[in-house]
Amino acid sequence: MNAVIDHIESRREAHVEDLKTFIAIPSVSTNPERAGDVARCADHCHDSLRDVGFTTVEVVKTGGHPIVYAEWLEAEGAPTVLFYGHYDVQPPDPIELWTSPPFEATVRDGKIYGRGSVDDKGQVLAHWKAWEAHFAVNGRLPCNVKVLLEGEEEIGSESLEPFLVERKTDLAADVILISDSPMFARGVPSLCYGLRGLCYMELHVRGANTDLHSGSFGGAVANPAQALAKILASLKDEDERITIDGFYDRVRPLTDEERDEFARLPFDEEEYKRQLDVSELVGEAGFSTLERTWVRPALDINGMISGFTGDGAKTVLPAEASAKVSMRLVPDQDPEEIARLFAAHVERVTPPGVSVKVAPHHGARAYLAPLDHPANQAAKRALAAAFGAEPVFTREGGSIPITNSFQSTLGLTSILMGFGLPDENAHAPDENLDLDNFHRGIAAAAHFYHEYASGVG
Ligand code: BES
Ligand code: ZN
Repeated sequence: MNAVIDHIESRREAHVEDLKTFIAIPSVSTNPERAGDVARCADHCHDSLRDVGFTTVEVVKTGGHPIVYAEWLEAEGAPTVLFYGHYDVQPPDPIELWTSPPFEATVRDGKIYGRGSVDDKGQVLAHWKAWEAHFAVNGRLPCNVKVLLEGEEEIGSESLEPFLVERKTDLAADVILISDSPMFARGVPSLCYGLRGLCYMELHVRGANTDLHSGSFGGAVANPAQALAKILASLKDEDERITIDGFYDRVRPLTDEERDEFARLPFDEEEYKRQLDVSELVGEAGFSTLERTWVRPALDINGMISGFTGDGAKTVLPAEASAKVSMRLVPDQDPEEIARLFAAHVERVTPPGVSVKVAPHHGARAYLAPLDHPANQAAKRALAAAFGAEPVFTREGGSIPITNSFQSTLGLTSILMGFGLPDENAHAPDENLDLDNFHRGIAAAAHFYHEYASGVG
């Protein structure tokens, strides 16, 4: 392994340049105008994997964005790792809040800034570079590796679900490896064993058949923006509990053991507040911040649109109003059931004089991995070697929708070995990745394949 790590160390600058090239392709999956760039990014992944040394590499067309699949299966008798990652990114908006252009990656103070730097291009690239080093030094990988990269993670992985069913035999493996989550804190390498699920809804409120003069009609005709505000305000009570009937029915209670484990993690609430510039933390009564974000569900308004929002003042009574609302789910909540309960609640509380349409977007169940998989031990050793500290076990509040299908369709546990930091602005302006963690991440990945192949408990 020393030669592999030396190889990685000697190529630090080249690795950063390759990350810049990857970030330069604006693979924004939710924007139809970017479909060509998403396809170009899939081709870029294909070519890179072929150049790295994979024997079979294909770009698979789907009803949505392409899937990239690669294999190297020449380690006879060794286990097989199915690596999963995504090459799509979130929209860069609001662009004016970026310090440097989102698709021209820029290094400042040991961090690389650009859309996709941490979520997930930098973390995917860490594995490519680990494979490249193994191939360059030994002409082979320590174990069999299958690579699955998708272009729809940020929009719910719809095309990947049927792909898993169709290609179930090809995808047979011993474990799934993912690097698409943050570590607990700087210097604290982490293995994440739980993710929240998601139910994403859109609401449209309609009043009169046209915008109206608020002087002539105000006071006599229902205002959809105010109706929407009432509906949204009704979704939580004074204690920040979600008020939708039946919402908590299937929520699995937190065990005392987990509660103790979370309490032992080095979490500094004052520092958290300072970082976010907030005077107080607000959440469900009776739970700590980590519990609120990892094991309790949450409901958030993601966006609202209505009426006049331009500069200056315009007296108008709008005809419509809309909002996007996400609910983060925990085991054993079912996204489809939650969508129905949400719609029933909205119908019940809609004030007179307006009509409301409720439509679901994507959904995902929460994911909880068993901790006894042998790959966990390999991942622990790999992280300890690369970061020089013992890893902790964490859960996270975000979602990786496909992890559940890996379990249900392929019967495989996902190991979540992420190298990001919680404050690297994923999905926000100035997304970035700490370069020290990027380089350590490459080393950790290289160690992982070696450790897992060596098979010691
Ligand atoms: N990398 C994240 C998942 C993540 C975020 C894991 C935070 C752990 C902590 C992933 O790319 C992501 O953003 N997923 C989306 C999925 C959704 C759009 C279906 C999410 O969580 O919003
Ligand atoms: Zn993301």
